[in-house]
Amino acid sequence: MMLIAGNWKMFKGPRETREFCAVFEPPGGIEAVLCPPFVSLTAALESEHTVFAQNVHWADEGAFTGEISAPMLREVGVAGAIVGHSERRQYFGETDETVARRAAAALGHGLRVIACVGESLEERESGQMELVLRVQIEAIAEATGPHDRLVIAYEPVWAIGTGLTASAEQAREAHAFVKSILDVPVLYGGSLKPENAGELLDEDGVDGALIGGASLDVESFTAICQAAASLS
Ligand code: 13P
Repeated sequence: MMLIAGNWKMFKGPRETREFCAVFEPPGGIEAVLCPPFVSLTAALESEHTVFAQNVHWADEGAFTGEISAPMLREVGVAGAIVGHSERRQYFGETDETVARRAAAALGHGLRVIACVGESLEERESGQMELVLRVQIEAIAEATGPHDRLVIAYEPVWAIGTGLTASAEQAREAHAFVKSILDVPVLYGGSLKPENAGELLDEDGVDGALIGGASLDVESFTAICQAAASLS
């Protein structure tokens, strides 16, 4: 079943989260997941929707100001977490090692995990794409193995929030490469919208999507879910 996840990033407090959840009705045949900011998790959990956090720490508890642990997420009913988003790698010093530790701890506590990988434009243009992906994926694979609660999100950094998307062919190639290293479902992320969702989701090896901007609006997120459902 295709997984269509909305990563809300730093958008929507509890009030807006409740408003979204009250009117969002995903179609059958796909799994829709909402990833609100930490303070809005419990508001989202008042609804029937599946809810993931946007990050999770590797320790159960401790002196880690500003972090949230897997047991804390489990306690409030969160089903999973994103780890290693490129914005965390770029702005908050996340490394392959910390991403792998976060993924392994979350899986160990029964959470599902969406682990993000992706190359920058510079890396792609200089022929480094496969090397970069390999290093990122092997770090995760060594820590977790091909776990049945793990999915990878391939999010080319140059496509995130830029309006540029990978072509269907670029997505197919990258997803096949990811799976050749770690055989788990692979989501595509990067400027996915209702207009391009059908084409990208129809590619071999594209098992769903991780959506930023277009997941903030109920109508556009629903339209993407419907595009996925029509392919299933
Ligand atoms: P956009 O869909 O806004 O490009 O963001 C993609 C993303 O980063 C999802 O995690």
